Amino acid sequence: MATDVHRPVTTPAVPDGTVRPHEPATAVRVDGLTRAFDGRPVIDRLHLDVRAGEFVALLGRSGCGKSTLLRVLAGLDRDIEGTVLVPRRKAVAFQAPRLMPWKRVWRNVLLGLPGKPERARAEGALAEVGLGHRAQAWPKTLSGGEAQRASLARALVREPDLLLLDEPFGALDALTRVKAQRLVDELWQRRGCAVLLVTHDVEEAVLLADRVLVMDEGVIAHEQRIELPRSRDIADPRFAALRTGLLERLGVEAPAASPGAKADAA
Ligand SMILES: Nc1ncnc2c1ncn2[C@@H]1O[C@H](COP(=O)(O)OP(=O)(O)OP(=O)(O)O)[C@@H](O)[C@H]1O
Ligand SMILES: [Mg+2]
Repeated sequence: MATDVHRPVTTPAVPDGTVRPHEPATAVRVDGLTRAFDGRPVIDRLHLDVRAGEFVALLGRSGCGKSTLLRVLAGLDRDIEGTVLVPRRKAVAFQAPRLMPWKRVWRNVLLGLPGKPERARAEGALAEVGLGHRAQAWPKTLSGGEAQRASLARALVREPDLLLLDEPFGALDALTRVKAQRLVDELWQRRGCAVLLVTHDVEEAVLLADRVLVMDEGVIAHEQRIELPRSRDIADPRFAALRTGLLERLGVEAPAASPGAKADAA
C-alpha cells in the first residue's frame, strides 16, 4: 500500500512548518520506495530527489525497474511502500505514442483533460511541437516522429511541473531522433518544468540532462552531474569522458570511440 498520497511539492518546509525561503524548490521527493511484484522487490527502498526545473536522465539495464519507477511517479501505480511526493501537474509520454486512432490529433491532445477544454489549447501545444498544421489529421496519417510529437503535445497541454518521458525517442530513426531531442531540450528550456527522461542512450542522457542517474538492484546506484555548458558538443573530450564513465557504470565497454559514435547501453 502507498504510505503517502501524491501531492504537490513546492518549497520545502522545515519540521516546525515554516518555509526556508532560499532553498530551491523540489519537484520530486521519493524516500524508501519499494515496489514488489509477486513478492520480488523491483524497487527496493529507493531514494530520489529532483529539483524544480531540473532535467534528470535515468539509465539502467533492461528490466531494472525504470518504467516501474516512472509509473509510480506518474501516479499510475500506487501499490507501493514509502513516500512519493510529486507535483499535482505532471504528464507522461511513453515510447509508443498511444494515440487513439478514432480521434483526430487535436482531440487526442485534449484526451483526459477535465472539463471541456477548447480546441485552441490543443492547437497551441501542437504548434509548440511543430505540428500545428496536423491538428485535424487522423493519427494513422502521421509519421512515427510526428506521432511522437503529438504525444509530447498531449503531455505539454497539461502544463506539467514534472514531465516524465519513458524512452520517447526509442523507436525513431537517427535523424528524427536528433530532431526530437532538440525539441525536448527547447521545450524544457522554455517551460522550465522538471523532466525525468528514461533512456537507454548514454549519449542522449549526457546531451540533455543536468544529472544522469543509473538504476540498479532497485535503487539509484550512481549519479553523475553534467556540468558541460549547453548546447553540448559530443565531440568535446569532456563529453566523451562522461559517456565512457557512464558506460562503465552500466557494465558496457565503450567502443573505441570515433567522436560521435553511437553508444546505446542496452
Ligand atoms: N505488472 C507487472 N507484473 C509483474 N512484473 C512486472 C510488472 N511490471 C513490471 N514487472 C517486472 O518488473 C521488472 C522491471 O520492469 P520495468 O518495466 O520497470 O523495467 P525497465 O527498467 O523499464 O526495463 P526496459 O529498459 O526493458 O524498459 C521486470 O522484471 C518486469 O518483468
Ligand atoms: Mg521500460
